[in-house]
Amino acid sequence: MSTNGVSPKGASEGSTRKALDGVKVLDMTHVQAGPSCTQILAWLGADVIKVELPGRGDITRGQLRDLPGVDSLYFTMLNCNKRSITLNTKTADGKAIFEKLIQHCDVLVENFGPGVLDRQGFTWERIREINPRISYASIKGFGPGVYEDFKAYETVAQAMGGSMSTTGFPDGPPTSTGSQIGDSGSGIHMVAGILAALFQRTHTGRGQRVTVAMQDAVLNLCRVKMRDQQRLAHGPLNEYPNEEFGDFVPRSGNASGGGQPGAALRCAPGGPNDYVYVIIQPPVWAGLAKMVGRPELVEDPGYATPEARLEHLDEVFGVVEAWTQAHTKHQVLEKLNSIDVPCGPILSTKDLIEDESLRARGMIADVEHPKRGTFTTVGCPIVLSDTPVKIVASPLLGEHNEEILKEIGWDGKDARELQAAGVL
Ligand SMILES: CC(C)(COP(=O)(O)OP(=O)(O)OC[C@H]1O[C@@H](n2cnc3c(N)ncnc32)[C@H](O)[C@@H]1OP(=O)(O)O)[C@@H](O)C(=O)NCCC(=O)NCCS
Repeated sequence: MSTNGVSPKGASEGSTRKALDGVKVLDMTHVQAGPSCTQILAWLGADVIKVELPGRGDITRGQLRDLPGVDSLYFTMLNCNKRSITLNTKTADGKAIFEKLIQHCDVLVENFGPGVLDRQGFTWERIREINPRISYASIKGFGPGVYEDFKAYETVAQAMGGSMSTTGFPDGPPTSTGSQIGDSGSGIHMVAGILAALFQRTHTGRGQRVTVAMQDAVLNLCRVKMRDQQRLAHGPLNEYPNEEFGDFVPRSGNASGGGQPGAALRCAPGGPNDYVYVIIQPPVWAGLAKMVGRPELVEDPGYATPEARLEHLDEVFGVVEAWTQAHTKHQVLEKLNSIDVPCGPILSTKDLIEDESLRARGMIADVEHPKRGTFTTVGCPIVLSDTPVKIVASPLLGEHNEEILKEIGWDGKDARELQAAGVL
């Protein structure tokens, strides 16, 4: 168990009610997009009941395994703080139990392929008939329209939401980003939708249908590229490093994407991640020019103003890089921050997992798991002042079958019989 976030003075762990205490989530999610959403809800205090296919569970339990026979890190890092019940919702008893779960819960979240729950008889109309207070949240690849019947994974959403065409270098292929903006990006969008529906229910007493399409979530995160698409009508995008412009936003390498120019600059000793990203805000130019040993450029008409620098950004950043190359990325971070220059060393995954400040805040956390021992995970990035998150291990498959059946008042066949019949 690990505590994510610093406990506020006077708040004793365990005694404080969590923000979402009392909210029950029926979690039919799998892979990443849905589980990333329900894990945040669990961290905020909701009771998340994960429903999984008997025998196999969420397919990620067995994917990319690092240890034989043990739930993968893929699964354990996306399903902390949840409970697990196995249930075959295609069987008669499974459907009856599922109906009881719908009655019991405040939110149903799923990210199956298009039409899966409808085919099992659980349409939105049927679900709200069973429980008018429940909200039904679905993540799909696409919204209604030409693509609606298509399945989607992370990179499909990145491809179709504007990310891949704008990521990479002008002479290279479309490139996917390491951030899981299609999956976890959709998950966090869905968290917002679910919280809004829960808040509205406090006035109306009724749940609602909440949908997030992965394509739309990526498009939302690519908003600035759509800004630039429209700016293209008025000429080239000067802050881009590209020499040629067509009628669509090109891949722009490491250009900053904002109003202030930036670049990734090499540092010593020259390893693959020995770079620092430096942004040149107008007010810091004088200090930066002096810091890099070129004080004459403060007044030089070719460098003195943002407009003048924009004409030859390569050279401007070349001047700064001549200095950064003589320092490590951490030295550059310290020296540039001392004169208020926004910058960021490129941190590798190894740097991050070993970062003491992230560990101290619980953003990198060690968790005890009954089968795999200790594993490291990424903490909850949403920090509430009174209710720090306690991260507990993901559940084993079907770990909570009997306790959940009891809680929902199931009085049909017992767990052993249901298991023998393939229902549990
Ligand atoms: C991710 C995705 C491509 C995976 O596709 P998939 O492995 O073929 O899985 P699907 O969700 O389409 O289907 C799952 C099947 O398992 C069945 N299943 C899953 N859990 C079950 C349960 N507890 N009981 C009975 N059946 C179950 C479903 O009923 C479905 O069967 P059907 O096609 O006969 O109706 C697809 O789910 C998808 O497009 N999801 C929406 C977008 C998304 O979230 N993508 C990102 C995932 S990180």
